[in-house]
Amino acid sequence: MARRVEGALLLLLVCFNFGNTLHLEALNTRTENKLLLKHRHLVRQKRAWITAPVALREGEDLSKKNPIAKIHSDIAEERQLKVTYKYTGKGITEPPLGVFVFNKDTGELNVTSILDREETPFFLLMGYALDEKGNNLERPLELRIKVLDINDNEPVFTQNVFVGSVEELSAAHTLVMKITATDADEPNTQNSKISYKIVSQEPPYPPVFYLNKDTGEVYTTSITLDREIPH
Ligand SMILES: *[C@@H]1O[C@H](CO)[C@@H](O)[C@H](O)[C@H]1NC(C)=O
Repeated sequence: MARRVEGALLLLLVCFNFGNTLHLEALNTRTENKLLLKHRHLVRQKRAWITAPVALREGEDLSKKNPIAKIHSDIAEERQLKVTYKYTGKGITEPPLGVFVFNKDTGELNVTSILDREETPFFLLMGYALDEKGNNLERPLELRIKVLDINDNEPVFTQNVFVGSVEELSAAHTLVMKITATDADEPNTQNSKISYKIVSQEPPYPPVFYLNKDTGEVYTTSITLDREIPH
């Protein structure tokens, strides 16, 4: 780096992978160069230190991953100032309260609860470094926490009973009805993908109906329906 950046910003660097470990490092200006290279993908802009989102999986005990993040003020360190860290946002100062707790002296942020993506898919927190008068020592920093989905919701039919009717002597492959279900897991993922199946039909043989497993549309087979012959 050609020029040392004066008044380094509030730094927050969260390193994570999607496995089990969640590492975290607070930076200071001396190691900044090295870490910049190492974690280039986490840093978009030299002076803004935008962090990659922290990803936490729903439905599991996360206590071993604590602290999940940490903020650090270089200004306070360089000028030997007393600093108080603070976080605000959903899960801390807005409902659901108490999901996260922090240490005002170290800047460490912990998660306290098992998360539910269907309740809160995403947390946006703000981190602050304050001087003794409560003024910002650094530009407040945004921390995004994404809650990763698990397949913890079963599909649910949108109605208890679907009623269909078809005229007798209808051609084969006539659309009789469409059944629908919903799944609360993350949209457009395998976890929320629904497929339909006929479990039984009466009389069972020869089958008069089949369905499209992806759309839930029920059609007649090539068996001709005759109302006077009880099918
Ligand atoms: C956060 O978690 C760590 C690791 O369990 C613990 O040492 C620390 O005291 C916790 N901090 C707060 C503020 O709860």
